[in-house]
Amino acid sequence: MRKIVIAGNWKMFKTQAESQEFLQGFLPYLEETPQEREILLCPPFTNLNILSKSLHGSRVQLGAQNVHWEENGAYTGEISSPMLTEIGVRYVIVGHSERRQYFGETNLSVNLRLKAAQKHGLTPILCVGETKQQRDEGETESLIISQLNQGLVNVDQDNLVIAYEPIWAIGTGDTCEATEANRVIGLIRSQLSNPNVSIQYGGSVKPNNIDEIMAQPEIDGALVGGASLEPESFARIVNYN
Ligand code: PGA
Repeated sequence: MRKIVIAGNWKMFKTQAESQEFLQGFLPYLEETPQEREILLCPPFTNLNILSKSLHGSRVQLGAQNVHWEENGAYTGEISSPMLTEIGVRYVIVGHSERRQYFGETNLSVNLRLKAAQKHGLTPILCVGETKQQRDEGETESLIISQLNQGLVNVDQDNLVIAYEPIWAIGTGDTCEATEANRVIGLIRSQLSNPNVSIQYGGSVKPNNIDEIMAQPEIDGALVGGASLEPESFARIVNYN
């Protein structure tokens, strides 16, 4: 059975106080959310501990936005899996395009992070997706297949979520057509050994397009940036029709 997973990626937004304020507005809306939907928030590292305490007993799971492959060591600025699991983090985003674009993340380092996360019981969310130029040059399929082939070496597909995030759709308001996202996600699924991996769509998911996105048969959820920062808008997304 493919699970529906809706994740809010807060990127580098919200202080601890702001994240607490968000929860006060957001949690009451979850009374309407069907039980089978997995809802998660991926705040900056500094908010994970306080959110873990505030979310104790709620159905919202916590995700981090990155993880290092070693358990500890001289890696200034990095965070390891045991540091995350100790405070109740269950998921981690790996290989987001902003990490690839601005921080030198490669398919090789993505692969190391995925395996380390799984080894410690975290469920990684592997992000893949093409740039506008790659799309225009007809390279979408080959690029995504190589991201999967290199990223998923020795990765356990029983404990994995994938997010298809076309880079040209991230933060631009230029959402990928739902049917096109469905097509690419079908292609991603065809490359996997486990057909039950949940595959999300991400890139300008908003309250006004979530219903259409989730109506697509291949799409199992959403990775939501900007629209996850406001309680009402993220609530409308998790409570899609
Ligand atoms: P966006 O970001 O919803 O603001 O486009 C999505 C993401 O980067 O995960």
